[in-house]
Amino acid sequence: MPVIAIVNRKGGSGKSTLAAHIAAWCARQGSAVMLGDVDRQQSTRGWLKRRDAALPTIAPWALDQKNVLRLPAGITHVVLDTPGGMHGFELARVVMFADAILMPVCHSVFDRESAAACHAELASLPRVASGRCRLASVGMRIDGRTRAAESLREWSDATGLPFIGSLRETQMYVRTLERGMTIFDLPPQQAAADLAQWEPILQWLSPLLYPVQAANDPTPAREPITSRLGSSRLGASRPQNLMPAQESLVHGGRLTMFAPSRPATPVVAAPSRPALPRAESTSGLTIPQFLKR
Ligand SMILES: Nc1ncnc2c1ncn2[C@@H]1O[C@H](COP(=O)(O)OP(=O)(O)OP(=O)(O)O)[C@@H](O)[C@H]1O
Ligand SMILES: [Mg+2]
Repeated sequence: MPVIAIVNRKGGSGKSTLAAHIAAWCARQGSAVMLGDVDRQQSTRGWLKRRDAALPTIAPWALDQKNVLRLPAGITHVVLDTPGGMHGFELARVVMFADAILMPVCHSVFDRESAAACHAELASLPRVASGRCRLASVGMRIDGRTRAAESLREWSDATGLPFIGSLRETQMYVRTLERGMTIFDLPPQQAAADLAQWEPILQWLSPLLYPVQAANDPTPAREPITSRLGSSRLGASRPQNLMPAQESLVHGGRLTMFAPSRPATPVVAAPSRPALPRAESTSGLTIPQFLKR
């Protein structure tokens, strides 16, 4: 199961914005996606509560009988939002579960220095050093009238951190998030400029999120990946006989689904989505020790 974590020590760098958008894009592809907060703040859980039930479903953490956070049954994709300031053991634990880490980076020198320190720590972790967890940066809140994107790209090259795209500063992000939405939930013509900026980011993520489809059905260069919005094409090969999650973050296992006891039958039609839990109250919640801040 692909796990994408959004990490940057710097507060306010755009982690939750990026995480919500990636989860919403996966949901638009027909995937059963969970968006989880790796901290007590649980800020994207609040966003999920505002999300209209008619929009493609994104599941929050599930709670078991002991009030411990667990991966909900049937989930095929996980996006983890993380808090600012994460480092050391907490960062290493997230990397243990992640297949890719995206680092949103704003343009100021403070942002770049903080991101470079975070990258250096990430790069020292074996799972990253061996390439099992991929890293990339995304420029956030970039003023298109300036050279900010180019200079961030140059910084990224010098740091050795792949730079896969940048998103402009626009109230569109602020307004859609306030309504429990993302720009992927808007009519495409309403967000055309911003959807175009997402293209290279989604192109980088797609082979990680949908490796089988990427191998069998590479996106033709001329076809924008966001033109798949609303289609279930990518999600159409999601196994239908997924079993409940056997391992959970709580017990330190990798995020894996219970292996089906018989071979998965080829799926020819778009799957019906499993009923996913919607966001609920977190009062009285017991958060796994390693997720606590
Ligand atoms: N491209 C953008 N254009 C305009 N505003 C943006 C953009 N991206 C993020 N923001 C705004 O910047 C603020 C910080 O973003 P966000 O909450 O995603 O950062 P964060 O890294 O998750 O913060 P924290 O470290 O506190 O969790 C939010 O108000 C968000 O709406
Ligand atoms: Mg946040």
